[in-house]
Amino acid sequence: MRVGLMAENPLESAVLASGIVPIAMLEGYAPVYSRAVLTATRLGIFDVISEGAGSAKAVAEACGTNERATEKLLNLLVTMRYLRYRDGIYRLAPHVRRWLLADTPGSIRDLILMKELEWSWIDQMESFVRDGRPLDVHGSMSTEDWRAYQRGMRAQANPLAGLLARRVPVPAGAREMLDIGGSHGYFSVALCRRHPGLRATVLDLPPAVEHAAPLLEREGMGDRVVLRAGDALADDLGDRVYDLIMAFSLVHHFDDATNRLLVRRSARALRPGGYLVIGDALRPRSPGKGGQQGAFFDLYFALTSESGLWSFDEMRSWQVDAGLSPLKSISLVPGGGFGLQVAERVAPD
Ligand SMILES: C[S@@+](CC[C@H](N)C(=O)[O-])C[C@H]1O[C@@H](n2cnc3c(N)ncnc32)[C@H](O)[C@@H]1O
Repeated sequence: MRVGLMAENPLESAVLASGIVPIAMLEGYAPVYSRAVLTATRLGIFDVISEGAGSAKAVAEACGTNERATEKLLNLLVTMRYLRYRDGIYRLAPHVRRWLLADTPGSIRDLILMKELEWSWIDQMESFVRDGRPLDVHGSMSTEDWRAYQRGMRAQANPLAGLLARRVPVPAGAREMLDIGGSHGYFSVALCRRHPGLRATVLDLPPAVEHAAPLLEREGMGDRVVLRAGDALADDLGDRVYDLIMAFSLVHHFDDATNRLLVRRSARALRPGGYLVIGDALRPRSPGKGGQQGAFFDLYFALTSESGLWSFDEMRSWQVDAGLSPLKSISLVPGGGFGLQVAERVAPD
């Protein structure tokens, strides 16, 4: 999938294809569209429309906003296909009803609210490209940033958790799992619900655990999914303790040497027959292959952490280096931009 200027009719398609349109002139306003979605989300505009406010006047009254300005925002959201409009009445598009309301189970509202934090990182792109020095987001966030980050990650897990729970291979009879950099713990919750004999420890940095705890609490998993504050690169992960270790959206934060260290520590902590599952977005094989999202996340994580995306081959090489036997590579999305690389700690003969 790609984000960019799109024609609205056949004539515009032809003009766009001809190469005479100054595309950057129009795409330069892209932040306005993102800001419109964030503004509507933060002000509760989608929620009041869902509750019955239909006209611009009714929306402005319910949200306590200026009617004229609100109407202009609503009109932009109609062109973006977040709202529909007829005879003075605005209605929600189905994707907004499903994903952006405050009280809908599975909502990604908190992920949208986290965008402001992400934009503050993205603002540093020019200096990153000049000197190659990335931000250390985990080492520099305020308490409020950590709260927004953990809530955003939790919301992002909503559309993914069911898929992950189905696709993560779990060894037969598995009892203990470790979710490294597991944040909110919702992926562990989904796995434990699917595998009734499984218990999970979710290991994350102390400021993450502080804000993840209330998010996990509301799942009511008791001692089947517990948080542990620590550093996966420094703390003792134990020896032959876990049947399954998962590192999801973590390795893009680390360089090659650090990931080798992480995988060696994980291999030691696995019981014979146990699986290490690394899940992440995957680096496209070459520019233009693997789509816009792959290139975007590769740049975004290089800017915000120490590395960027990795390929299945690279993940496998860390696993082999740590004495594990790579099993399958599992693609989670069409086009293969996101997947799981699984390895087993083979039992000695
Ligand atoms: C992008 S988030 C992914 C969270 C979760 N796995 C998910 O996919 O929703 C990365 C997480 O890794 C954690 N993390 C980063 N470095 C870590 C370390 N050295 N030890 C443990 N956790 C770490 C961060 O605090 C953050 O919660």
